[in-house]
Amino acid sequence: MSEIKNDRFLRALKRESVDRTPIWIMRQAGRYLPEYRITRGKAGDFLSLCKNKQLCCEVALQPLERFELDAAILFSDILTIPDAMGLGLYFETGEGPKFRKTIKNYADVEKLPQVSIRKDLSYVLEAVSLIRYELNNQLPLIGFSGSPWTLAAYMIEGQGSKTFPKAKAMLYQDPALLHLLLQKITTCVIDYLNAQIEHGVQVVQIFDSWGGLLSHDSYFEFSLSYMSQIIKGIKDLHGDNIPIILYTKGGGQWISDIADTNCDCIGIDWTTNIGTARKKVGNVVSIQGNLDPSVLLSDKRTIRSEVSKIMESFGSYPGHIFNLGHGITPDVKPENVNEMIMAVHDFIQKSNR
Ligand code: CP3
Repeated sequence: MSEIKNDRFLRALKRESVDRTPIWIMRQAGRYLPEYRITRGKAGDFLSLCKNKQLCCEVALQPLERFELDAAILFSDILTIPDAMGLGLYFETGEGPKFRKTIKNYADVEKLPQVSIRKDLSYVLEAVSLIRYELNNQLPLIGFSGSPWTLAAYMIEGQGSKTFPKAKAMLYQDPALLHLLLQKITTCVIDYLNAQIEHGVQVVQIFDSWGGLLSHDSYFEFSLSYMSQIIKGIKDLHGDNIPIILYTKGGGQWISDIADTNCDCIGIDWTTNIGTARKKVGNVVSIQGNLDPSVLLSDKRTIRSEVSKIMESFGSYPGHIFNLGHGITPDVKPENVNEMIMAVHDFIQKSNR
């Protein structure tokens, strides 16, 4: 018996039966919500918001007050780790993340300090405790981290990119250097996620947002193997008590291999058919996804029809968590989000009749 009042999400993660498909939204707290923009304004900027536990908690709860969602997610960012490693994260308005220092050579990797999660990232852990407390066991709380490859890509590039050419160049030019960096990050991520769990998160998601940039062989060598280490590092301490979701954007062709890592759920983007994904791995893991976020820029009828396609494609099997295929974008109207959520709820009601 779970102590959580709404445990649909936790049940679906274990492929147990549910009264309806649970739903949450990647980046559910964010700029598409006017109330988020107001709170961010109070904090001054995004990073100050991440470092203020009261305001962090406020924005994490905002989407739950507005919509009938089945999970809460910690409000933070994947780039807190490279920031704690001393790279100096900053955001320029409208330009995405940037770092003052980047990783170019062995000296840069060797110089990276050992992060003390409980000291250097105490602001994240305090936000976890506060959000968990305020949720009052109504909904489960998700913690998260970036994958080692995705974090390394930002640390080498020094900023966001569509192709991460510097990181890709290092992969081919000096694979041993990249492995050294990935191993340092991995050790830190294991510690970070275990600390989030100690402070109250009940599920964790690893965001491998840039895994899809890798060649077939490189994906296994430079991304999946490190995510497997993280899964082992969590399961060694917590067994199967903390479900782990692994999301590789552009990773549709690797889902059977992802399922072999012993993760509990695979997040898929919209380029994979969810019914096909379920047939490949559905008896071993649950599946999260996979509406194209751009559907939310259309009208209510289209949203309902695209939601139905996903629900029908998955079928009435256990183990589906409805979500977008990637994060929600700032230009989405909140009323369209509500339409998507209602469409997921209504679909189940119809099929139960
Ligand atoms: O889901 C949630 O509500 C939790 C919050 C969350 C944020 N970032 C808040 C955020 C989560 C889970 C993330 C993860 C994250 N951050 C990822 C992985 C997921 C993905 O989208 O692939 C990545 C790659 C990042 C790095 C990052 N942080 C980028 C590229 C940006 C800029 C993007 C943009 O839309 O401008 C950020 C900033 C960021 N992280 C914002 C939010 C709400 C926007 C900052 C603002 O308020 O101006």
